[in-house]
This record gives sequence, structure tokens and C-alpha cells, in this order.
Amino acid sequence: KKIVLAYSGGLDTSVILKWLQDAYQAEVVTFTADLGQGEELEPARRKAEKAGIKDIFIDDLREEFVRDYVYPMVRANAVYEGQYLLGTSIARPLISKRLVEIAHETGADAVAHGATGKGNDQVRFELGVAALDPALKVIAPWREWDLNSRTKLIAYAEENGIEVPSDKRGEAPFSVDANLWHTSSEGKMLEDPAEEAFNEVCLRTCHPEDAPDQPEYVTIGFERGDAISLNGQAMSPATILTELNDLGATHGIGRLDLVENRFVGMKSRGIYETPGGTILMTAHRGIEQLTLDGGAMHLKDELMPKYAKLVYNGFWFSPEREMLQAAIDHSQRHVTGEVRLKLYKGNVLVVGRSSPSSLYSLEHVTFEEDDVYDQKDAEGFIRLNALRLKLLAERKHRLGEN
Ligand code: ARG
Ligand code: SIN
Repeated sequence: KKIVLAYSGGLDTSVILKWLQDAYQAEVVTFTADLGQGEELEPARRKAEKAGIKDIFIDDLREEFVRDYVYPMVRANAVYEGQYLLGTSIARPLISKRLVEIAHETGADAVAHGATGKGNDQVRFELGVAALDPALKVIAPWREWDLNSRTKLIAYAEENGIEVPSDKRGEAPFSVDANLWHTSSEGKMLEDPAEEAFNEVCLRTCHPEDAPDQPEYVTIGFERGDAISLNGQAMSPATILTELNDLGATHGIGRLDLVENRFVGMKSRGIYETPGGTILMTAHRGIEQLTLDGGAMHLKDELMPKYAKLVYNGFWFSPEREMLQAAIDHSQRHVTGEVRLKLYKGNVLVVGRSSPSSLYSLEHVTFEEDDVYDQKDAEGFIRLNALRLKLLAERKHRLGEN
């Protein structure tokens, strides 16, 4: 038996590694992804070697993550429940995809992950694996073992010679998931949604009140809905996001404190930091304002919550997400041009946009005289739109309703 484990190198997945070796008498292959979480990956290699692992995969997936997962989601303007920019949700399908590929490369018959039995992530990992290779078994130790308290977990680690970082000896303050798009924190001391938590939690962004008193401007260039340059300089997707993260962090942009509905049915409270992502999403709306037809835009806006829910619930590799994506991508044909933004104390404001494929017609919209639009046309337009409202009002009057 051979199992590929999604391994972060942290305490929980290190315990899982050992537990899989014992409980399944299996050879474990570790897979650690660099998704831009900003952590050293060498300790993960060292710990895996120490645990006797022969096949250790450490992959830099940053460009693939932004190009093939984040960017398609930005084209959709995807936001879950009005506010969440889906930073954890969008990383899971890529991890599932690599788990499956590595299982094939190494001849493994199972994959394992460290998500709990209460959350969304287990669903996302497992729906991803099911879609890509239904023959692979998925092992979720949190749903199987009896190490369900911190004390038991640490005791197990100590018995088995697993490093326990000193800050993990007590109760961990909260659970963190980070990548190039966002950092999320949940659980433990954050579980009372009445208590403010930004000050204790946010490490990635500066507090808006401490941000510079001077605003900063940035120009993002788009081609077919994708950011391709910053301040006129062409850059790769992951480079653009990295630069926007720095700008957003400096100006305290992209913080969110949210109570959301998990797919498994319960509500949970999370603190999110999405600095560069918040800038990028605002800018994308800015360029669409100029270049998307109104009918296309409104349909896109109706489809968006559906798309966001599919990403949130782990249906990235589903025909319905792919159908929506095809429609969304088609809409982006002319979403090309530049957006200028002003960053100031937690705010990101579109202050200018321009495009060679703009639909904005000054000739039509001007308050000055024009010879392309006949204002008299509006009369009949309003009269017909008013017709049923008038008939309704007359009936109301006739029946004495109010
Ligand atoms: N609630 C977020 C989501 O479902 C984040 C989940 C993982 N975050 C964490 N801190 N463990 O996408
Ligand atoms: C987890 O339960 O492992 C993290 C939270 C979530 O997946 O929603």
C-alpha cells in the first residue's frame, strides 16, 4: 500500500504522516506545494526525510495557481456570500490535481489530507480526486483516528519523536491557511463572532489606521480579462499578484471578518486578508465597466453567485463550472485596457480606465449638444414601459385598494 499525503510540514500533518505509516502499514509519499504561502519549504523536506520518506515532492505551483485557477475566477468576479474572495476554496482543486498526478507517477493507490471532518476542505479535496481518478482511495485521518484533542495529538507526537514547536504546546490560537491569494484564520480564539479579532490575527496587512497618510496610485493593464502588466510593465500572473499583495499590505487593503455558511451546514467565523486580490477584483470590474456590453454584464452578474458557490463547495472539476467558465471567458474577448487605482488607508478606488475596445460613447452621453441621439425617442420608450404600471394603477383605483 502506498499513500500520497498533502503535507505542509506542520505539526498536524506530521502526526498524520506517522499515523498513516502505523495504522495502514503503508509507504507514504509526501507532497508539499508552494502556493505562495510564504513559508520555508525546506523544513518540510527535512521532516519528511527524518520520518523515513523516500519520495518527497515539493512543487512550486505559484504560476499555475494564479494563471489557471485564480485568473479564471477573477474573470467571473467570483465572490461568495457577497464578500468572501474564495482564497482557500480556489487552491484545493490544484492540490487535488497534483495529488492525483503524483499518485499515478509513484504507483500509489490512495491519497490523504489533513482537513477535518467538519469543514469544506475535505469536500473540496475529495470531490477533486473523485473527478480526476475515481479509483483512488482517499484517507482523511481526522475522521478516523481518536487523536481528537490537542493533548492527545501532542502526546502522540512526543511518543513518536515528532518535533512539536514550542508555540504549539499550548492550545493553538487559531487555524491558518495561506497562499498567494489570501490568508484565512478560523477557530479557537476566533470562535466568538461578537469579539473583534483583526488586531490579534492580521499579520499580512497593515492596520488601515497605521497605513501611510499619502495615497498611492497603481495602473493595471488587462488583456481579455486577465491582468498582464503593472504600471506599464508586463509581468507574469504570479508576479503581478505578488506586487499587488505588497501594495495592498502597505495600505491595509483587503481585510474581512465574515460569518459564512459552510457546505456541511454549519456557520463559521473567519478572518480573511486578501490584499492583492481585493485590488485585482476592483480593477477587473473597472475595465469591464468600459468594455462589457450591459446585457452581457448583467447576465454575468446573475451567473456569478452560482459560479462562486460551485468553487466554494468544491465543484471546480464539474461540467456546470466548466460551462459557466466557457460563457464567462467568451465575455472577456474585449476586456482589454488599463485601470488606474488609488490606494488609501484600506480603500481601493478606481479613478480612471481606458481601452482600445471601449463601448463608452462620449458622443451619446454628453450633456452638450449632439447629433447621434434623438431625445424624443425616449418619450415612446418610457410610454410603453409605463403602460402596464398605468393599467395596474387604474385597477387599484377602480377596486378602491391602496
Ligand atoms: N472558510 C474558508 C473556506 O472554506 C477557509 C477554510 C480553511 N481555513 C483555515 N483557516 N483552516 O474556504
Ligand atoms: C478544516 O476543517 O479542515 C478547515 C476548515 C474548512 O475546511 O472549512
